[in-house]
Amino acid sequence: METAAGASYAELLDLINASWSTQAIRAACVLRVPERLAAGAVSADALAEATGCHAPSLQRLLRGLIALGLCAQDASGRYTLTPSGALLREDHAQSLRAWALLAGGTIWQRWAELDQSVRSGLSHRRRHGGADGFDDLAHSPEAAALFYRAMVDITRSVAGAVARTIDPAGVQRVVDVGGGSGELIAQVLATHPTLHGVLLDLPHGLEGAPAVLEAAGVTPRCCLVAGSFFDALPAGDLYLLKSVLHNWDDARCVQILRRCRAAMAPHGQVWVVERVMADRVGTTSQDRAVARSDLNMLVALSGRERTAREFAALFAEAGLEMQPEIGEAGGFRLLHAVGP
Ligand SMILES: C[S@@+](CC[C@H](N)C(=O)[O-])C[C@H]1O[C@@H](n2cnc3c(N)ncnc32)[C@H](O)[C@@H]1O
Repeated sequence: METAAGASYAELLDLINASWSTQAIRAACVLRVPERLAAGAVSADALAEATGCHAPSLQRLLRGLIALGLCAQDASGRYTLTPSGALLREDHAQSLRAWALLAGGTIWQRWAELDQSVRSGLSHRRRHGGADGFDDLAHSPEAAALFYRAMVDITRSVAGAVARTIDPAGVQRVVDVGGGSGELIAQVLATHPTLHGVLLDLPHGLEGAPAVLEAAGVTPRCCLVAGSFFDALPAGDLYLLKSVLHNWDDARCVQILRRCRAAMAPHGQVWVVERVMADRVGTTSQDRAVARSDLNMLVALSGRERTAREFAALFAEAGLEMQPEIGEAGGFRLLHAVGP
């Protein structure tokens, strides 16, 4: 078949069918295939027995995982994990298991009605009679546990780089605002033994925090505060907001930033760690990652990703001055503001 000049039929088909990889990976995680292959090569029949699956169908899933580069077959036909597939193991230091389950579960359901969110400008939840925000997670412990673990999965890969960017001179107390289970503040405190931290989140957001702080060996230097960032914040020198502002509309973002400004020491700083939308979007993998996240915020929370100019306007509205950008970490940018 002839393809129109400039068009890529095969690339478009790949884009149209991209959803299969999300679900193949989710199924592998639900069935614990990565953990079961971690100990060594396993035959499809043995794996079917261990997972309680229909063997021929499991074999088809395994073939799919091979095609995705997540599994391989040894000379005797037994299945193994590739290094990328190993990242789906729950016990891997860089595990993406929780994110894979979230992406193939709750997130997947919301995206199925993206057209309606685009029509209305409303998130999936608001269109179905609910409210935006994180309060509903207080009533769904299982969903909350998965969500906050998924946040740890994503934050783990950037927290070290963010932590290393901090110059501890002149800083004593770092406040991680909406820090969830505390992966970022844990790595900040582990990197800088002279710093003390405050982890502030809603009560249900903090449930996983003690384990994360303990694993990083920073429990004695980090105080947990259950509260809302729309109310007065604890005092500090450096306020971290990672993946928080993109959950909210401009008015709510300004409220959060004003709370930081009101609480911070005279020399205080606010660091925003977010994906930043290009002024003109291209087709690089970074453009795609930001665009995906932007639409994800639309369907999930009526939130959005922003350009650097839009962040500067939010800071200014909150009485803060955006400074030259500090750096970049795994697709996230480090924006930085100080008081006037
Ligand atoms: C997308 S998550 C980011 C979590 C963490 N900063 C990270 O990047 O891993 C947004 C966080 O904001 C928290 N949050 C939402 N509303 C809040 C509020 N009113 N006060 C404090 N935290 C809130 C959520 O519980 C969640 O931990």
